[in-house]
Amino acid sequence: MDANATTPLLPEVLDTMRPWLLENFGNASSIHQHGQQARAAVEHARESVAMLLNCRESEIVFTSGGTESDNLAVFGLVKPGDHVITSSIEHHAVLHAAERLQERGVDVTFLPVSRDGRVDPEDVRRELRSNTRLISVMMANNETGVIQPIQEIGRIAQEADIWFHTDAVQAAGKIEIDVKAIGCDLLSISGHKMHAPQGTGVLYVRRGTRIEPLFFGGAHERQRRPGTENVAGIVGLGKAAELSAEALRDGTMDRVASLRARLEHDIVARVEDCSVNGGEAPRVPNTTNLQFDNLEGEALVIALDLKGLAVSGGSACMSGATEPSHVLTAMGLVSTRARASLRFSLTKLNTEYEVNAALELVPAAVSRLRELAPVNAGTLG
Ligand SMILES: Cc1ncc(COP(=O)(O)O)c(C=O)c1O
Repeated sequence: MDANATTPLLPEVLDTMRPWLLENFGNASSIHQHGQQARAAVEHARESVAMLLNCRESEIVFTSGGTESDNLAVFGLVKPGDHVITSSIEHHAVLHAAERLQERGVDVTFLPVSRDGRVDPEDVRRELRSNTRLISVMMANNETGVIQPIQEIGRIAQEADIWFHTDAVQAAGKIEIDVKAIGCDLLSISGHKMHAPQGTGVLYVRRGTRIEPLFFGGAHERQRRPGTENVAGIVGLGKAAELSAEALRDGTMDRVASLRARLEHDIVARVEDCSVNGGEAPRVPNTTNLQFDNLEGEALVIALDLKGLAVSGGSACMSGATEPSHVLTAMGLVSTRARASLRFSLTKLNTEYEVNAALELVPAAVSRLRELAPVNAGTLG
């Protein structure tokens, strides 16, 4: 139940990739038939991704993943002297890129979020300056699943004639994405969060948005991302995009939503002092972030792992020390509560049986840990 970290390759995705790893190994830039076959496969995948996002094929740039897509969006448009607006709950691929921009003479505003983890579009409007060049606010948060009001932010960006990027890595395949309805100029997705291979991704670049590439070399991807295409990975991403679109249409994601609802409701009902972080906000259907008071979250992650349940904690290891999650602390949680929070994230492959198992394991593990090593919320920083 850690799908927001990564998802398994679907067998259908692997099947479409296999020939491009074995017999059809052409370079998509070669003019002979092997190259042309690879080119056709890449272009077919581009069509599938364009369909998922409701954009033109020429607006799709294949990258090595969400991190590269975010970096390309942020560094591709901004120069020293510009101003950038982003939020304090972005993934580090945006946050750390924005911090690097600050070192290069760019002013960056990191917007706060409400208690339920949402950016207020009016805060975006208030922070606009004459030199604001880019707004970057994510579509769905990776830790809480909270969906941000990006359509409203897109409207503000359009009215002010400012570029708007959204990191949709945790939204793709979980909710509908329509770049026209959002009104964004740039949008990132990552293959491995939607059952395609790790190390694949896309940046949607709206026609007319002139981005400076991060790399230099060939003229691949219309001069926006040089480097021999990862044909098999791209083919896998295309297939995953087709399957994701299907899962959004045929009720599969509704089933995931009901699994999540039962998991969340029953854990909160069975465990004392347990609540949902961001539970009042609109969320993607697969994620729940639960706060278990009087407990060290990392110990719970390990206890559950020993029983075969993989989830993520509300802290990250940075320079050797565990830091409470920047997302949860931005939502106003004190560090003990952020540390005592766990993220459960599902895929369409999770079953009723697994949810039932989690509903047995989690309450038992929580009460054992609370007995063994009670954490007093008042004493830990
Ligand atoms: C919101 C968000 N953006 C970006 C990324 C980075 O994507 P990738 O792992 O493909 O580099 C992640 C991965 O966790 C993410 O959750």
